[in-house]
Amino acid sequence: MEGKKKRLLVLYASQTGNAMDAAERVGREAEHGGCPSVEVLSMDHFDPNSLPNESAIVFVVSTTGQGDPPDSMKVFWRFLLRRNLGCSWLEGLHYAVFGLGDSGYQKYNFAAKKLDKRLQDLGARSIIEKGLGDDQHPSGYEGALDPWLMSLWKTLNHINPILLPEMSEILHPTMRKLEHPKFKIVYHASTEATQHDSHISDLKDVKNMIERARSMSPSLHGHDHGEPHYLLKMVKNEQLTKGDDGRNVRQFILEALASVIEYQVGDVLDVLPGQNSASVDAFVKRCKLDPDSYITIEPWSGEKDSLDEYVNGSSDHPIQLRTFISRAMDIASASPRRYFFEVMSYYASAEHEKEKLQYFASPEGRDDLYQYNQKEHRTVLEVLEDFSSVELPFEWLVQLVPPLKKRSFSISSSPLAHPNQVHLTVSVVSSVTPFKRNRYGLCSSWLAGLDPKKDGEVLVPSWIQRGTLPIPPPMVPLILIGPGTGCAPFKAFIEERAMQNLVEPTAPILFFFGCRTRDTDFLYKDFWLAQSSDEGVLSEKKGGGFYVAFSREQERKVYVQHKIREESARVWRLLDGGAAIYLAGSSTKMPADVTEALEEVVAKENCVSRESAARWLKTIEKAGRFNIETWS
Ligand code: 2AM
Repeated sequence: MEGKKKRLLVLYASQTGNAMDAAERVGREAEHGGCPSVEVLSMDHFDPNSLPNESAIVFVVSTTGQGDPPDSMKVFWRFLLRRNLGCSWLEGLHYAVFGLGDSGYQKYNFAAKKLDKRLQDLGARSIIEKGLGDDQHPSGYEGALDPWLMSLWKTLNHINPILLPEMSEILHPTMRKLEHPKFKIVYHASTEATQHDSHISDLKDVKNMIERARSMSPSLHGHDHGEPHYLLKMVKNEQLTKGDDGRNVRQFILEALASVIEYQVGDVLDVLPGQNSASVDAFVKRCKLDPDSYITIEPWSGEKDSLDEYVNGSSDHPIQLRTFISRAMDIASASPRRYFFEVMSYYASAEHEKEKLQYFASPEGRDDLYQYNQKEHRTVLEVLEDFSSVELPFEWLVQLVPPLKKRSFSISSSPLAHPNQVHLTVSVVSSVTPFKRNRYGLCSSWLAGLDPKKDGEVLVPSWIQRGTLPIPPPMVPLILIGPGTGCAPFKAFIEERAMQNLVEPTAPILFFFGCRTRDTDFLYKDFWLAQSSDEGVLSEKKGGGFYVAFSREQERKVYVQHKIREESARVWRLLDGGAAIYLAGSSTKMPADVTEALEEVVAKENCVSRESAARWLKTIEKAGRFNIETWS
């Protein structure tokens, strides 16, 4: 233990913010328990070389996509895999791992499990068995976090009472004193600020203003900054689905006004949604804020050094409060975290509201909070309106209200076919809660509400990012599998091939599409059928093909995987000729079901076992010939 830091370090890797919330809770509880020094850090802000200097670390990591670690863990993880570290490199380090995952996915909590194993291999000692939070649990990941933390504190207190002396404080959350908010709001005279915010005259200024609002946000924690690459104008907004099953898949066509959009097929467009101005008005009124005031957000003195990275030189650039709320705070976001209820309880003047909030914040109230909050998708604004005696200072709101996040969409156009345009194929997210309240996805319903004719001045802040699907070279045969909106990236691939094919012949493509019926959601039907003609790139004559699974046109369900099995010989012929498989879609089960069908095809056509077929698919996956992009 000589020379080790006498502190508890909480290292998290978060993709959507849940692991960060959980890590902050671990840090707060440790402080309440009398831990003399606690630090909560994102993994990408920590140098893994200094791991051996730590005495105790709690890791909180989520698993994303198909069992992947979050982006912020990638460098750290690559470092840990170095061969030269040796099996006693982390001797003397006590650690605990809590994972956040979803047991609906095949590689449940994979990142946490792999991390736990690797830390053991490197000689670190686990304080308690890893905890696995599950999105499928009736009260979300917190269902596992509560008991896991209890047991962590008990054991840590036992093995290292200096690091964690006071157990009783932790076990009674409602008896705690509220800490200070980490930030303060500084109000500026408008004359001081006008030079920055008035006369937002051109696109450059708007982009700059969006960046300033976001870089000031404490809850964005230094992420998701940067000026938008483009402010795009919507020129088409069309519903592609028909029928009365409530599904609304739309095509949006966005166009650059003053610049040329540079992208490639397989790229994704990140969109920063706008907010409904009525909600912003209601929020400002409920919280008694002056929307026209100019603010900066600054760390409380004393914490400045450690928090500097979060708030980026904000004191030099006051911003209008309304602009800050509408560009950086997700006031319509569903299900505020439990700590929001805990902090609210301190500011409730009505006794019954205080009691209810304290109950919600306690372990006993967890299931009732889940019913009220998560199940009903209560928004921040609705919660504040339900507890009307609470006067929560803006300092707390900027810290606790989730940041307004960009949403990513696979681009469904080829830049060769549509220069200067980006096409998206988006399912407008809506759901009905157990109490029959309609809920809508913020970004998709905002986009769906834009009217290309009327909203001439509404521009969509956008960033182009490389997606997970590599660009297929024109001479590689393709097997594309994309039911529903999974067809989006493949419409781009097929458009691109059709353009390349005008210059010289390209390799064949098999495309498997799935929808409910030919009359309701056969997205881009005319385009696929045209490309299936003798001249098209899906033409059977050229070795390609187009197959649709209509899931609801007969009694039993027919899915893309059934069509793949039916076309077993063709699929194998193309695979054997070096084809790459691309799979995209939104279902949680679909990727596993399709992979199973592909294993069967490989086994059947080669008379080999399912195990060796599965191994072969893994090999081509590693070689970049089997690519998957899924979304929820
Ligand atoms: P369903 O809604 O009738 O179940 C696009 O959403 C298409 O994907 C629909 O036809 C849908 O069918 C189908 N789908 C749903 N789950 C699937 C799965 N596990 N594998 C393949 N297709 C699926």
